[in-house]
Amino acid sequence: MISFIVNGQNRQADVEPEKPLLWVLREDLDIVGPKFGCGVAACGACTVHVDGQPVRSCSIAVSDVAGKSVITIEGLGDRNPGDKGLHAVQRAWIENQVPQCGYCQPGFIMAAAALLKAKPKPSDRDIDEALGNICRCGTYSAIRRAVHRAAAILGGAP
Ligand code: FES
Ligand code: FES
Repeated sequence: MISFIVNGQNRQADVEPEKPLLWVLREDLDIVGPKFGCGVAACGACTVHVDGQPVRSCSIAVSDVAGKSVITIEGLGDRNPGDKGLHAVQRAWIENQVPQCGYCQPGFIMAAAALLKAKPKPSDRDIDEALGNICRCGTYSAIRRAVHRAAAILGGAP
């Protein structure tokens, strides 16, 4: 039995310790915001925060998060509430109409939120380096615009 905190709640999973965190979240805890894209830490669709750091949950064993705090897209606004309970990144994503099919977007949003926590005013280069995620719909330029907008919101812009 592995115990950890997910979106502020104590959770237990009776699974093999080497089972990837992504599959424990999706199959055992019914938390399906983190998506499966590649399974080899290449696409970022499965990104969550573990103790505040962005982690590709397909490539970390659930035993590695025992006793730690995991935040998924479902808990991002709840843990960092802003306008209408949304995180600034979520608000900026909506304002900029970033998603197309949407499949990759939870991973980008989690990576962007972690970037802005570490670097409140990132350059385009910072964004490209920190968000090495893959979007087959090609939303990259909209994502850059939205990250700059989120930075402005977090800096106090209306
Ligand atoms: S599914 Fe985890 S990085 Fe692609
Ligand atoms: S919005 Fe479709 S894969 Fe990124």
